[in-house]
Amino acid sequence: MHIIAPRYILSPETIHTGLAIAFDTKICAIDTPEILKKRYPNADFYEFDGVLLPTFANPHVHLEFSANRATLSYGDFIPWLYSVIKNREELLPRCDETCLQEAIHSMLHTGTTAIGQISSYGDELEVCAASPLQVRYFVEIIGSNAAAADVMYASFLERFHQAKKVENPRFKVGVAIHSPYSVHYILAKRALEIAKKYDTLVSVHFMESLAERQWLDNGTGEFAKFFDELLGQKRPVNDAMEFLELFSDVRTLFVHMIYANDIELARIKSYNAAVIHCPVSNRLLGNGVLDLERIAPLPWTLATDGLSSNYTLNMYEEMRAALFMHPDFNAVQIAKELIVRTTRVGHELLGFAGGVIKKEAPATFQLVTLPKDLANEDDIYLHLILHTQKPEVVYIEGERYGK
Ligand code: BEZ
Ligand code: FE2
Repeated sequence: MHIIAPRYILSPETIHTGLAIAFDTKICAIDTPEILKKRYPNADFYEFDGVLLPTFANPHVHLEFSANRATLSYGDFIPWLYSVIKNREELLPRCDETCLQEAIHSMLHTGTTAIGQISSYGDELEVCAASPLQVRYFVEIIGSNAAAADVMYASFLERFHQAKKVENPRFKVGVAIHSPYSVHYILAKRALEIAKKYDTLVSVHFMESLAERQWLDNGTGEFAKFFDELLGQKRPVNDAMEFLELFSDVRTLFVHMIYANDIELARIKSYNAAVIHCPVSNRLLGNGVLDLERIAPLPWTLATDGLSSNYTLNMYEEMRAALFMHPDFNAVQIAKELIVRTTRVGHELLGFAGGVIKKEAPATFQLVTLPKDLANEDDIYLHLILHTQKPEVVYIEGERYGK
């Protein structure tokens, strides 16, 4: 048994002072340090002059692209997509086991212990399954060409069953439908039947770019040239609403959503759905800013997206970006909301225990040092976001990672 007495505990909604936690793999008790020392006389006891808070969930990453630093073209979505297609044969093998381990290590040591990994190819399966993180492994299906549908479906199914074989309480399988512009209706339908059969969580990129909106609405815009040149397609393979209907009876994380129209939003709000907001990725690919007021009351949280459209997988960095990309919200208030969403809400959306500090919860948390001159306790959330590069230590089910 261990006892940690920090200056502050964030539950995450409430700031507690004068309390300590006693834990083994779970949080066994939360009380004053004196009472806990008496109740557990043989426990190690540490004081920490800082904050104890839950760890983050990052529900949308593409670990297979973790070798990218400056290969891909940023600025506009379609040039970026061309650059992904042009460079992926070279980028994917560059993300070898060392590269994957580095990406996982960087997340763990910046306070993230649960991830939603979008798996396009499957070579990262073993590393993910063996990692100390909680991983929701979304096996992705892509392919807009009807003639290739059987091949693409077979590949999806093979990767899905490979992942299922290693499923455990810390590694859960999901299904990712790439997007309405890139997955043929029949293919999306078949993959979602698998999601229903196995009762898995679903992820889909939805209305990320203006180009996607124009292509699906009118068959026009930058995607018209893209599809004609690369795939010989003259028309979109989906009607956006028909595509959306496929998700009516699965639990889905809708990723990006910047260009969703009112009718789509109303439909999604009637589903068991949530929104994943990736502000840095959206900024770098020229996709604008998600209107958070429009998506209410859908649950939402932040994600970094992959290193294919971000410079870091550090959720503190993502929260700083979100803080500055939503200037209409009071900084102190949105900072608290961001911490609550990236911890408790993120874990709930991935279907993992954690993200909260309470009795019986897993002993998974981070210890972060605050600026010494903190004057107003209510500003803790904001200063955590402004001043933290990484926590001092991270615990996962009682196991210590850090210095
Ligand atoms: C496809 O496989 O059909 C596809 C992939 C990426 C973007 C668009 C379409
Ligand atoms: Fe993505």
